[in-house]
Amino acid sequence: MRIPMIAGNWKMNTTIGEAVKLVSEMRTELDKADNVDKIACPPFVSLGAVKELIKGSSIKLGAQNLYFEEKGAYTGEISPLMLAGLCEFVIIGHSERRQYFNETGEIVNKKVKAALKINLKPILCVGERLEENEAGRTELVIAEQLRSSLIGIASPDSVTIAYEPIWAIGTGRAATGRQANETICFIRQSIARLYTEEVAQQIRILYGGSVNADNATEFIKQSEIDGALVGGASLKAAQFLSIVKQASEIM
Ligand code: PGA
Repeated sequence: MRIPMIAGNWKMNTTIGEAVKLVSEMRTELDKADNVDKIACPPFVSLGAVKELIKGSSIKLGAQNLYFEEKGAYTGEISPLMLAGLCEFVIIGHSERRQYFNETGEIVNKKVKAALKINLKPILCVGERLEENEAGRTELVIAEQLRSSLIGIASPDSVTIAYEPIWAIGTGRAATGRQANETICFIRQSIARLYTEEVAQQIRILYGGSVNADNATEFIKQSEIDGALVGGASLKAAQFLSIVKQASEIM
């Protein structure tokens, strides 16, 4: 049985002070929600402060990115070794990184491998652009993203996949529950083809893209959807809490 996951991707938002305030507002209530993994992914600079705040609670921590080298002359980058011990999860291959920082499938693959090497759990993002969706190319695009991201990875058991159609991210135009469920079903079939049916059945696949307190249940209740990667709504304590509670209640 797959435990649902609600992960908050704060993106490039919150100062350290704001991060501490946001977590303080939801810590007690979030901690109470059971049967669901709750993950906060603040900016790098706030990971330490948030880690202190959530000590002893059931809230887990994730980073939003990493570099694939362990150390060296890569000014400005954060290595997997720096994240080890600080957080449990790391978002990899978010469409904003692919779009603004030219992350290719090859780079995403190196990052997933680097994370797995030191037992960081990747949240691997895939998703199609609007024009690809309209041209009926969603499955082709996603199959290729999955293939290239997972090359050479023998066991993806600790990988979570987030299906985030790019046209739904930050636009207020979420997919419908049915659309998301169909594509996530396709992702599961693709994982079964790349690995085994058993692996496909145990891997968690989230939906992301304009998820909020009003539409969360529509996604979480779908048979193939194991939770949500939440952007904008994760910056509002009441919204994020509500989404987590909905996931907890559906279980
Ligand atoms: P959104 O972002 O919820 O603001 O659409 C989701 C994401 O990019 O992970």
